[in-house]
Amino acid sequence: MILRRKRTAILVSGRGSNMRALVEAAQGPDFPAEICLVLSNRPDAPGLAFAKEKGLAVAVVDHKIHAGREEFERSMQVLLELHGIDLVCLAGFMRLLTPWFIGQWRGRLVNIHPALLPAYRGLHTHARALADGVKIHGCTVHFVVEAMDEGPIIAQAAVPVLDTDTPETLAARVLAQEHIIYPAALGHIAGGSYTVRGNRVLLGEPAAEPLPLLVPPVA
Ligand code: GRF
Repeated sequence: MILRRKRTAILVSGRGSNMRALVEAAQGPDFPAEICLVLSNRPDAPGLAFAKEKGLAVAVVDHKIHAGREEFERSMQVLLELHGIDLVCLAGFMRLLTPWFIGQWRGRLVNIHPALLPAYRGLHTHARALADGVKIHGCTVHFVVEAMDEGPIIAQAAVPVLDTDTPETLAARVLAQEHIIYPAALGHIAGGSYTVRGNRVLLGEPAAEPLPLLVPPVA
């Protein structure tokens, strides 16, 4: 039985497909998080329409009308506190956060990154993975710390890279997995079923030994 669902905010800047996956997961009656706020730094973020349709609280804090990064974040912080937020999920939120904001949310702020961290931090991850010729690529959900795209890893999904891949086809294959692991990771964090030991987030072992991903597959 869930005593109190964790009040969760999702921060977006664009398309919002991960936001959508989190919102849909949180509609499940047993999901330990409820989405109480969708916040964007861009008034025109396409993802906001879906959140409004769902009747969720939606807010825009436009970074362009703030004097600096910290002023912008203080405005977000006021809204997050007003909505009694426990957890913050970054989902395609394209602003770097200051140590001040990260300090407010330490251990309660998570991000999804379209690569298997610690490989390919930063932008253009799919094109860089293709240029390097890697055979396996993927995505990572992690706690946010001061250093960009670092922090204890909560969940990862790996996908094969195909000979025919372009950055777009590879991005689509990875994105499908993002939509699976982000809700799963939020479920663990909101449900409290994890322990952090150094950089490792321990979630408990699966019942059976998981299959390895081999590229190419070996019979
Ligand atoms: C995703 O690929 C996510 O990993 C990255 O930004 C993208 C956002 O996509 N951080 P969406 O807005 O969730 O569709």
